[in-house]
Formats: sequence, structure tokens, C-alpha cells
Amino acid sequence: MSQKDKLFIFDTTLRDGEQSPGASMTREEKIRIAKALEKMRVDVIEAGFPIASPGDFESVQAVARAVKDSVVCGLARALEKDIDRAGEALKDANTSRIHTFIATSPIHMQHKLRMEPDQVVEQAVWAVKRARQYTDNVEFSAEDAGRSDIDFLCRIFEAVIDAGATTINVPDTVGYNIPAQFGATLKTLMERVPNADKAVFSVHCHNDLGLAVANSLEAVMNGARQVECTINGLGERAGNASLEEVVMAVRTRQDIFPCDTDLDTTQIVTCSKLVSNITGFPVQPNKAIVGANAFAHESGIHQDGVLKHRDTYEIMRAQDVGWSENRMVLGKHSGRNAFRTRLLELGMHFDTEEELNAAFSRFKDLADKKHEIFDEDLQALVTESGIEQENERVKLVSLKTCSETGETPVAELVLTIDGEEQAGQASGGGPVDAAYRAIEAIVGTGSELKLYSVNNITSGTDAQGEVTVRLEKGGHLVNGQGSDTDIVIASAKAYINAVNKLLAPGDRAHPQTGDV
Ligand code: KIV
Ligand code: ZN
Repeated sequence: MSQKDKLFIFDTTLRDGEQSPGASMTREEKIRIAKALEKMRVDVIEAGFPIASPGDFESVQAVARAVKDSVVCGLARALEKDIDRAGEALKDANTSRIHTFIATSPIHMQHKLRMEPDQVVEQAVWAVKRARQYTDNVEFSAEDAGRSDIDFLCRIFEAVIDAGATTINVPDTVGYNIPAQFGATLKTLMERVPNADKAVFSVHCHNDLGLAVANSLEAVMNGARQVECTINGLGERAGNASLEEVVMAVRTRQDIFPCDTDLDTTQIVTCSKLVSNITGFPVQPNKAIVGANAFAHESGIHQDGVLKHRDTYEIMRAQDVGWSENRMVLGKHSGRNAFRTRLLELGMHFDTEEELNAAFSRFKDLADKKHEIFDEDLQALVTESGIEQENERVKLVSLKTCSETGETPVAELVLTIDGEEQAGQASGGGPVDAAYRAIEAIVGTGSELKLYSVNNITSGTDAQGEVTVRLEKGGHLVNGQGSDTDIVIASAKAYINAVNKLLAPGDRAHPQTGDV
């Protein structure tokens, strides 16, 4: 890269992104996202918080085994048990990083940690040294740095760099900072921490005031050389800085930024869709870079301008972030090879022949109902194959609904629960309502439906509908997805998918609550 610094991209979709209420992912789903991130050439993939639960541990371990080209990272509080668990989960990684953190703001130290500043420094130094026993790639974060005292930050950062931290992360944990102020913080740190040149400075911004990307970019202008971000800006509360916006801002404004990333930006849209499909968090149409309208020119003046000379209204090319023409890619007569090849081109692969065969048989079923199969259909189909592989206690066998003008809609349904067939029926305000009541009559989760949304995957009346539901039970939120050319069936699949997540075992700890 000519005279430019490298800007490292640390993706935390699988960790902070997963802290979005309802966005939990299975191990298989995490592996799929991690492989897509690796293909995009993300530098560091934060795969999870291994101490949180056995499932989290296994996911980090599985990602560590599956990913070869990106560094795989695990989060750990500044505690022996956390660090040892992270070290264990990462032991098979080609290159691993332990990311350890402790809060440094007066409010967190006093009320959450109940520790004196001196104890916090001591604990941080101890944690970094412990992490260095597992890997020489150790990141230290000062949680709530955005509200911490700058002198204290300088002190703790100097101490942890001396102890062996190679990346120093400055999180705006609660999304409180304003760009000029946050940039000034980075500048001061780079100037005042005496051994700052021995570590890469990083930022991790939350979006509570809608400033996560702006704050991250300002920090980059002031010396940060790693940005922590997530696909589609997923993350705790209002989310994290969105990877695609940070990366494309830096790439598009090379006249301003003194650095660039190594990312293959043509993989951005694929990653965005994959994450949206898996988590059930839709991408708003006007979202920068990855929204369906991001490159659509509605007004006649704009269309005319773009046709005459693209640069009149376009600052980036849609192809450069991976938007392709919505063209037919496969159909009823396509064979297994064409199917596999196109999926590989889209960054999706199967570990076993059985998985490929199962997905191919779904593809054939779909091609019978829908003549033109688009990339988006393939993505939904593979997501659904992944959804159904794990933790599936409840399965849909058949569904029949009847809705007629002037009559109450009725649903008749057969499910299997742990392999045993059970039938149920119910009436409702509409066929979807009836189907949901019939499912509840059988499984009896007692959960509350918090969200129901339907999107068409492609255009046309034969398009598949993609349904997302969110269920809540006792404060536990889960999302479910399903797709089908019949939206009532898609709705039932989504509901059952969410039910399976509710029934899945395992409480998990939240990294940023609780004692140190
Ligand atoms: O927001 C935050 O402070 C975090 C840390 C764990 C880095 O997510
Ligand atoms: Zn965070």
C-alpha cells in the first residue's frame, strides 16, 4: 500500500453483535458468518465470549478451527477464569488474540467494580500478563473509556503496554462521545502514552447518539489504526459502528484518510445479507451501502445525470460493494454442480456432502414452485438449511390453512416434537394467527409475540416471503426466520425456528455486567 498505513478491521458481529437482544446465533451460523468475514479479508474476528456458556465456548472453538486467514479473538474480563477459558477455546486457531477488558470510568469503577483505581490498574496488568501466557497477540480495552479520566487512561495504557498488550482499545461503551472530542482523546493518548508506539490504538464506538461511525472515523484521523465494528451496525442497544460504512468511507475518501484497509469490499453485500438472514435483523432500505435503495436513483434528474455521467450523483460503484444485477442464476434444470458453484461464488460452502444434498433437494423443491432462482433465494435457502441443522426439537410436518371471505380462518397443523408426531388445530384473526395459535396449542411455550415482519426476498408475485418473528418469554428474547413462496408456511417456519431457540438449553453470562 503506497505510503499509507494499514487500518485494521476488527469485526465483532459474533460477539458484540450477538449482544443485540434476540440476535443469538448457533455455532453453525457463527461459522458461516466467520467464513464470510474471512473471505472479505477482515483482520480480526471476535468470535465470542468463551466463559459465557458452554455453547459460547464451543462456538469460539469451532470458529478458531474453521478460520485460517483472519486472527480469531475471544473476549475475557480481567479474570483468571475468563482468560483461561478464552485461551483454551482459541488453542487450535492459526492465529489467536485474547481481548481482555476492565472498566476505567469513575462511575463503573465505583458502582460496578467497587474497586479503587490502583486496584484496576493492577488487575489489568495482571490480566494482560496472564493472557500473554496463551498468545503474544493481546488486546486490552478500557471499558467506558469515553467517560474515563484522560490521565487515568494514560496511566493504565502505559502499564498494560509494558505488560505485553499489543492492541489498546478505546471504547465509547455508552455512545456518549462527539466526534471532535473523541478525536481529541485519541490524539492526546497517542501523544501522552510514552510507549504508544509499541501498540496499535483501536476504537470501539457504540451508536446511542447515531455517531458511532463518525466517532470511529475521527479517531482514525487522529491516529487510531484499528476500528472495531459490526456488519449492518449490529450490537448492544443502538449497535456498534457499521463495518461497511467505516470501510467504504475510508476507501472512498482516500484523498483524506492516511490509511486504508485490506478488505475485499465486493463481499460486503453478501455478508450483510447473511447476517441479516441469520439474526433476523432486517436492513432498512435507506441504510448506507447495504440498504436496498442505497444505489437506487428515483428522481428523474438524478437518473438523467447518472445515465449521462455516473459521477454526477454516485460516489461509489454498486458493484464495488457487491451489488449484482437481480438476474436469474439457476432454475429447475440446473444440476448439483451449478448449484454448488454458484453458492461458492456467493461465499457459501458445505462441510459435508449430506449438507449439500439436503440444500440441493430444497433447491429442487423451490425450483418447482418458483421458476427463476436468484442469488437472494439461494442465500435464504442456505440460511434455512443451516437453521434446521441444530437444536431442532420441533419440526413442521404439514400445515393446512383455510381462509375465506366471511369465515373465521382455521389452521390444521402437524409437528414433531423430539421425533414424536403431534397434531393441533386452531382458529384466528387470519391464517397466520390461526397457525400460530395451533403451534402454541401443541408446544405451549407461553411466549409473547413481540415482532412479526414479512419481506419479499426478490420481486414478483412468485417471490419467496421471508418472515422474522421475535418471541419473548421471561425477559428472554429470540428471533426466528423462515422463508417460503407461501407466506403462511414461511410464517409457521419462522415461529417454529424461534420456538426451537427458546427451547434450546443454556443460560449465558453477559460480559459487561457482574463482578470482577
Ligand atoms: O462496548 C464495550 O466497551 C465493549 C468492550 C467489551 C470492548 O464491548
Ligand atoms: Zn461494545
